[in-house]
Amino acid sequence: MGLPFTGRLGLAAGLDKNGDYIDALAALPFDFIEVGTVTPKPQPGNPKPRLFRLPHDEALINRMGFNNNGLDYLIKNLKKIQYKGILGINIGKNADTPQDRAIEDYLIGFQSVAPYASYITLNISSPNTKGLRDFQHGDLLKKLITALKQEQAHFFNQQKKYVPLVVKISPDLTAEALASMAAILLEQKVDGIIATNTTIDHSNVSDLNAADEEGGVSGKPLRNRSTEVIKQLSALVQKQIPIIGCGGIFSINDANEKLAAGASLIQVYSGLVYQGPALIRQLSSMK
Ligand SMILES: Cc1cc2nc3c(=O)[nH]c(=O)nc-3n(C[C@H](O)[C@H](O)[C@H](O)COP(=O)(O)O)c2cc1C
Repeated sequence: MGLPFTGRLGLAAGLDKNGDYIDALAALPFDFIEVGTVTPKPQPGNPKPRLFRLPHDEALINRMGFNNNGLDYLIKNLKKIQYKGILGINIGKNADTPQDRAIEDYLIGFQSVAPYASYITLNISSPNTKGLRDFQHGDLLKKLITALKQEQAHFFNQQKKYVPLVVKISPDLTAEALASMAAILLEQKVDGIIATNTTIDHSNVSDLNAADEEGGVSGKPLRNRSTEVIKQLSALVQKQIPIIGCGGIFSINDANEKLAAGASLIQVYSGLVYQGPALIRQLSSMK
Protein backbone atom coordinates (compact mmCIF):
# COMPACT_ATOMS: atom_id res chain seq x y z
CA MET A 1 0.00 0.00 0.00
CA GLY A 2 3.04 2.22 0.15
CA LEU A 3 2.31 3.26 3.73
CA PRO A 4 4.80 3.22 6.63
CA PHE A 5 2.95 0.88 9.03
CA THR A 6 4.67 0.68 12.42
CA GLY A 7 3.08 -2.72 13.05
CA ARG A 8 0.15 -4.85 11.99
CA LEU A 9 -2.61 -3.93 14.39
CA GLY A 10 -5.56 -1.75 13.43
CA LEU A 11 -8.97 -0.69 14.69
CA ALA A 12 -11.77 -1.84 12.36
CA ALA A 13 -14.38 0.53 10.95
CA GLY A 14 -17.68 1.20 12.66
CA LEU A 15 -16.52 1.90 16.19
CA ASP A 16 -15.77 5.55 15.50
CA LYS A 17 -18.08 6.28 12.59
CA ASN A 18 -17.75 10.07 12.82
CA GLY A 19 -14.11 10.46 13.81
CA ASP A 20 -15.15 11.76 17.24
CA TYR A 21 -12.60 9.72 19.21
CA ILE A 22 -9.51 9.45 17.03
CA ASP A 23 -7.08 11.02 19.51
CA ALA A 24 -8.51 8.97 22.39
CA LEU A 25 -8.30 5.74 20.39
CA ALA A 26 -4.75 6.65 19.42
CA ALA A 27 -3.83 6.41 23.11
CA LEU A 28 -4.13 2.64 22.61
CA PRO A 29 -1.19 1.02 20.83
CA PHE A 30 -2.87 0.71 17.44
CA ASP A 31 -0.66 0.88 14.35
CA PHE A 32 -3.56 2.25 12.35
CA ILE A 33 -7.12 3.43 12.87
CA GLU A 34 -10.04 3.21 10.48
CA VAL A 35 -13.02 5.53 10.92
CA GLY A 36 -16.45 5.48 9.22
CA THR A 37 -18.43 4.19 7.51
CA VAL A 38 -19.31 7.74 6.49
CA THR A 39 -21.99 8.52 3.92
CA PRO A 40 -22.25 11.82 1.99
CA LYS A 41 -25.29 13.06 3.93
CA PRO A 42 -26.01 12.47 7.63
CA GLN A 43 -28.50 9.66 8.26
CA PRO A 44 -30.01 8.10 11.39
CA GLY A 45 -29.50 4.43 10.53
CA ASN A 46 -32.02 1.74 11.44
CA PRO A 47 -34.49 2.01 14.32
CA LYS A 48 -33.30 0.82 17.73
CA PRO A 49 -32.73 -1.78 19.02
CA ARG A 50 -30.14 -2.48 16.35
CA LEU A 51 -27.14 -3.78 18.28
CA PHE A 52 -27.19 -6.97 20.35
CA ARG A 53 -24.58 -8.38 22.70
CA LEU A 54 -24.30 -12.18 22.78
CA PRO A 55 -21.95 -12.67 25.74
CA HIS A 56 -22.11 -16.46 25.72
CA ASP A 57 -20.96 -16.50 22.10
CA GLU A 58 -18.59 -13.53 22.55
CA ALA A 59 -20.35 -12.12 19.53
CA LEU A 60 -22.37 -9.11 18.45
CA ILE A 61 -25.22 -8.86 16.01
CA ASN A 62 -25.72 -5.44 14.50
CA ARG A 63 -27.99 -3.85 11.96
CA MET A 64 -26.89 -0.27 12.60
CA GLY A 65 -27.40 0.74 8.94
CA PHE A 66 -24.66 3.37 8.61
CA ASN A 67 -25.87 5.74 11.31
CA ASN A 68 -23.49 8.68 10.90
CA ASN A 69 -23.28 12.45 10.81
CA GLY A 70 -22.17 12.72 7.18
CA LEU A 71 -19.01 13.91 5.43
CA ASP A 72 -19.04 17.55 6.55
CA TYR A 73 -19.14 16.59 10.22
CA LEU A 74 -16.35 14.00 9.84
CA ILE A 75 -14.14 16.50 8.03
CA LYS A 76 -14.62 19.09 10.78
CA ASN A 77 -13.29 16.49 13.19
CA LEU A 78 -10.40 15.52 10.93
CA LYS A 79 -9.27 19.14 10.80
CA LYS A 80 -8.93 19.16 14.60
CA ILE A 81 -7.09 15.92 15.35
CA GLN A 82 -3.55 15.63 16.69
CA TYR A 83 -3.13 12.02 15.52
CA LYS A 84 -0.39 11.69 12.91
CA GLY A 85 -0.53 7.92 12.42
CA ILE A 86 -2.10 5.93 9.62
CA LEU A 87 -5.77 6.79 9.24
CA GLY A 88 -8.13 4.80 7.05
CA ILE A 89 -11.44 6.37 6.11
CA ASN A 90 -14.26 4.00 5.24
CA ILE A 91 -16.91 5.31 2.85
CA GLY A 92 -20.37 4.11 1.85
CA LYS A 93 -23.62 5.18 0.22
CA ASN A 94 -26.68 6.78 1.78
CA ALA A 95 -29.64 4.46 2.27
CA ASP A 96 -31.87 6.68 0.11
CA THR A 97 -29.42 6.94 -2.79
CA PRO A 98 -30.79 4.78 -5.61
CA GLN A 99 -28.59 1.96 -6.80
CA ASP A 100 -27.89 3.62 -10.16
CA ARG A 101 -26.45 6.69 -8.39
CA ALA A 102 -24.50 4.84 -5.71
CA ILE A 103 -21.16 5.31 -7.46
CA GLU A 104 -21.64 9.08 -7.14
CA ASP A 105 -21.84 8.68 -3.37
CA TYR A 106 -18.52 6.83 -3.33
CA LEU A 107 -16.96 9.45 -5.62
CA ILE A 108 -18.13 12.29 -3.37
CA GLY A 109 -16.79 10.36 -0.39
CA PHE A 110 -13.41 9.82 -2.02
CA GLN A 111 -13.02 13.43 -3.15
CA SER A 112 -13.98 14.79 0.25
CA VAL A 113 -11.83 12.62 2.49
CA ALA A 114 -8.77 12.03 0.25
CA PRO A 115 -6.88 15.06 1.66
CA TYR A 116 -7.14 13.58 5.18
CA ALA A 117 -6.89 9.82 4.53
CA SER A 118 -3.87 7.54 4.54
CA TYR A 119 -6.10 5.10 2.67
CA ILE A 120 -9.76 4.94 1.70
CA THR A 121 -11.93 1.84 2.14
CA LEU A 122 -14.92 1.16 -0.06
CA ASN A 123 -17.47 -0.59 2.09
CA ILE A 124 -19.47 -2.78 -0.27
CA SER A 125 -20.04 -5.54 2.25
CA SER A 126 -22.29 -4.25 5.02
CA PRO A 127 -25.39 -6.46 5.18
CA ASN A 128 -27.47 -3.59 6.58
CA THR A 129 -27.85 -1.31 3.57
CA LYS A 130 -30.16 -2.71 0.91
CA GLY A 131 -28.40 -3.61 -2.33
CA LEU A 132 -24.93 -2.57 -1.10
CA ARG A 133 -23.42 -6.03 -1.46
CA ASP A 134 -24.50 -6.18 -5.13
CA PHE A 135 -21.44 -4.03 -5.75
CA GLN A 136 -19.27 -7.04 -4.97
CA HIS A 137 -20.24 -8.70 -8.25
CA GLY A 138 -19.66 -8.47 -11.99
CA ASP A 139 -20.44 -5.27 -13.84
CA LEU A 140 -21.40 -3.23 -10.79
CA LEU A 141 -18.07 -4.02 -9.12
CA LYS A 142 -16.14 -3.27 -12.28
CA LYS A 143 -17.90 0.06 -12.81
CA LEU A 144 -17.44 1.11 -9.19
CA ILE A 145 -13.75 0.24 -9.03
CA THR A 146 -13.01 1.75 -12.45
CA ALA A 147 -14.64 5.03 -11.43
CA LEU A 148 -12.82 5.15 -8.10
CA LYS A 149 -9.43 4.26 -9.59
CA GLN A 150 -9.93 7.10 -12.07
CA GLU A 151 -10.73 9.44 -9.21
CA GLN A 152 -7.64 8.24 -7.36
CA ALA A 153 -5.47 9.01 -10.42
CA HIS A 154 -7.14 12.38 -10.84
CA PHE A 155 -6.48 13.28 -7.19
CA PHE A 156 -2.87 12.14 -7.53
CA ASN A 157 -2.35 14.30 -10.61
CA GLN A 158 -3.81 17.33 -8.89
CA GLN A 159 -2.44 16.95 -5.38
CA LYS A 160 0.55 14.63 -5.81
CA LYS A 161 -0.83 12.41 -3.08
CA TYR A 162 -1.53 8.76 -3.83
CA VAL A 163 -4.39 7.55 -1.63
CA PRO A 164 -4.53 3.74 -1.64
CA LEU A 165 -7.94 2.28 -2.42
CA VAL A 166 -9.02 -0.64 -0.25
CA VAL A 167 -12.10 -2.82 -0.74
CA LYS A 168 -13.85 -4.42 2.22
CA ILE A 169 -15.52 -7.72 1.47
CA SER A 170 -18.16 -9.96 2.96
CA PRO A 171 -17.47 -13.39 4.45
CA ASP A 172 -20.60 -14.69 2.72
CA LEU A 173 -19.21 -14.85 -0.83
CA THR A 174 -19.06 -18.24 -2.53
CA ALA A 175 -15.70 -19.49 -3.78
CA GLU A 176 -16.80 -18.64 -7.33
CA ALA A 177 -17.87 -15.12 -6.40
CA LEU A 178 -14.60 -14.59 -4.55
CA ALA A 179 -12.62 -15.75 -7.57
CA SER A 180 -14.37 -13.43 -10.00
CA MET A 181 -14.08 -10.57 -7.55
CA ALA A 182 -10.35 -11.19 -7.09
CA ALA A 183 -9.88 -11.15 -10.86
CA ILE A 184 -11.48 -7.70 -11.08
CA LEU A 185 -9.55 -6.32 -8.10
CA LEU A 186 -6.27 -7.57 -9.60
CA GLU A 187 -7.07 -6.18 -13.02
CA GLN A 188 -7.97 -2.79 -11.57
CA LYS A 189 -4.91 -2.77 -9.27
CA VAL A 190 -6.84 -2.22 -6.08
CA ASP A 191 -4.37 -1.45 -3.27
CA GLY A 192 -5.74 -3.57 -0.43
CA ILE A 193 -8.57 -5.87 0.62
CA ILE A 194 -10.16 -6.08 4.06
CA ALA A 195 -11.49 -9.55 4.77
CA THR A 196 -14.00 -9.52 6.30
CA ASN A 197 -17.09 -7.61 7.30
CA THR A 198 -19.83 -9.25 9.44
CA THR A 199 -21.70 -12.36 8.34
CA ILE A 200 -25.42 -12.90 7.74
CA ASP A 201 -24.89 -16.58 8.59
CA HIS A 202 -26.26 -17.02 12.11
CA SER A 203 -25.75 -20.78 12.27
CA ASN A 204 -22.72 -20.55 14.58
CA VAL A 205 -24.62 -18.49 17.12
CA SER A 206 -25.75 -20.52 20.14
CA ASP A 207 -27.91 -17.78 21.70
CA LEU A 208 -31.10 -18.74 19.89
CA ASN A 209 -33.11 -15.68 20.95
CA ALA A 210 -30.49 -13.34 19.59
CA ALA A 211 -29.87 -15.51 16.52
CA ASP A 212 -33.32 -14.51 15.26
CA GLU A 213 -32.34 -10.84 15.18
CA GLU A 214 -31.59 -9.62 11.71
CA GLY A 215 -28.10 -8.26 11.20
CA GLY A 216 -24.43 -9.10 10.78
CA VAL A 217 -22.63 -11.36 13.24
CA SER A 218 -19.16 -10.36 14.43
CA GLY A 219 -16.81 -11.81 17.03
CA LYS A 220 -15.96 -15.43 17.73
CA PRO A 221 -18.61 -17.12 15.53
CA LEU A 222 -17.14 -15.23 12.54
CA ARG A 223 -13.52 -16.10 13.20
CA ASN A 224 -13.05 -19.30 11.21
CA ARG A 225 -15.11 -18.18 8.25
CA SER A 226 -13.15 -14.95 7.88
CA THR A 227 -9.87 -16.89 8.12
CA GLU A 228 -11.12 -19.26 5.42
CA VAL A 229 -11.96 -16.31 3.15
CA ILE A 230 -8.46 -14.88 3.72
CA LYS A 231 -6.95 -18.25 2.77
CA GLN A 232 -8.94 -18.45 -0.45
CA LEU A 233 -8.29 -14.84 -1.31
CA SER A 234 -4.60 -15.15 -0.60
CA ALA A 235 -4.34 -18.06 -3.05
CA LEU A 236 -6.16 -15.93 -5.65
CA VAL A 237 -4.21 -12.68 -5.32
CA GLN A 238 -0.79 -14.26 -4.72
CA LYS A 239 0.60 -11.34 -2.68
CA GLN A 240 -0.17 -8.86 -5.44
CA ILE A 241 -2.72 -7.17 -3.17
CA PRO A 242 -2.17 -6.97 0.60
CA ILE A 243 -4.93 -8.44 2.75
CA ILE A 244 -6.13 -6.92 6.02
CA GLY A 245 -7.56 -9.74 8.14
CA CYS A 246 -10.57 -8.98 10.32
CA GLY A 247 -13.13 -11.13 12.11
CA GLY A 248 -13.15 -12.64 15.58
CA ILE A 249 -9.62 -11.77 16.68
CA PHE A 250 -9.57 -12.17 20.48
CA SER A 251 -5.98 -13.30 21.09
CA ILE A 252 -2.46 -13.42 19.67
CA ASN A 253 -3.22 -16.92 18.47
CA ASP A 254 -6.25 -15.68 16.51
CA ALA A 255 -4.15 -12.90 15.01
CA ASN A 256 -1.44 -15.38 14.01
CA GLU A 257 -4.05 -17.55 12.31
CA LYS A 258 -5.04 -14.57 10.15
CA LEU A 259 -1.40 -13.87 9.29
CA ALA A 260 -0.75 -17.55 8.51
CA ALA A 261 -3.80 -17.52 6.23
CA GLY A 262 -2.21 -14.70 4.23
CA ALA A 263 -3.10 -11.42 5.92
CA SER A 264 -0.41 -8.74 6.24
CA LEU A 265 -2.33 -6.56 8.68
CA ILE A 266 -5.17 -7.20 11.13
CA GLN A 267 -8.11 -5.23 12.53
CA VAL A 268 -10.22 -5.77 15.63
CA TYR A 269 -13.63 -4.61 16.80
CA SER A 270 -15.65 -7.15 18.81
CA GLY A 271 -12.55 -8.35 20.69
CA LEU A 272 -12.11 -4.80 22.00
CA VAL A 273 -15.76 -4.73 23.07
CA TYR A 274 -15.41 -7.96 25.09
CA GLN A 275 -11.85 -7.73 26.36
CA GLY A 276 -11.23 -4.00 26.52
CA PRO A 277 -7.96 -2.15 25.98
CA ALA A 278 -5.89 -4.99 27.48
CA LEU A 279 -6.42 -6.92 24.24
CA ILE A 280 -4.89 -4.10 22.22
CA ARG A 281 -1.86 -4.00 24.48
CA GLN A 282 -1.51 -7.78 24.19
CA LEU A 283 -1.85 -7.82 20.40
CA SER A 284 0.52 -4.91 19.96
CA SER A 285 3.28 -6.96 21.59
CA MET A 286 3.34 -9.32 18.58
CA LYS A 287 5.35 -8.12 15.66
C1 LIG B 1 -21.59 -2.37 15.87
C2 LIG B 1 -20.75 -2.58 14.65
C3 LIG B 1 -20.73 -1.60 13.67
C4 LIG B 1 -19.97 -1.78 12.51
N1 LIG B 1 -19.95 -0.78 11.58
C5 LIG B 1 -19.17 -0.92 10.47
C6 LIG B 1 -19.09 0.12 9.52
O1 LIG B 1 -19.69 1.18 9.67
N2 LIG B 1 -18.32 -0.09 8.42
C7 LIG B 1 -17.62 -1.25 8.22
O2 LIG B 1 -16.92 -1.38 7.21
N3 LIG B 1 -17.65 -2.25 9.13
C8 LIG B 1 -18.41 -2.11 10.24
N4 LIG B 1 -18.45 -3.12 11.17
C9 LIG B 1 -17.69 -4.38 10.91
C10 LIG B 1 -16.34 -4.40 11.60
O3 LIG B 1 -15.50 -3.37 11.11
C11 LIG B 1 -15.64 -5.76 11.38
O4 LIG B 1 -15.43 -5.95 10.00
C12 LIG B 1 -16.46 -6.93 11.91
O5 LIG B 1 -17.09 -6.60 13.12
C13 LIG B 1 -15.61 -8.19 12.13
O6 LIG B 1 -14.59 -7.97 13.06
P1 LIG B 1 -14.72 -8.38 14.62
O7 LIG B 1 -15.17 -9.81 14.67
O8 LIG B 1 -13.37 -8.13 15.20
O9 LIG B 1 -15.76 -7.48 15.20
C14 LIG B 1 -19.21 -2.97 12.33
C15 LIG B 1 -19.23 -3.95 13.33
C16 LIG B 1 -19.99 -3.77 14.48
C17 LIG B 1 -19.98 -4.85 15.54
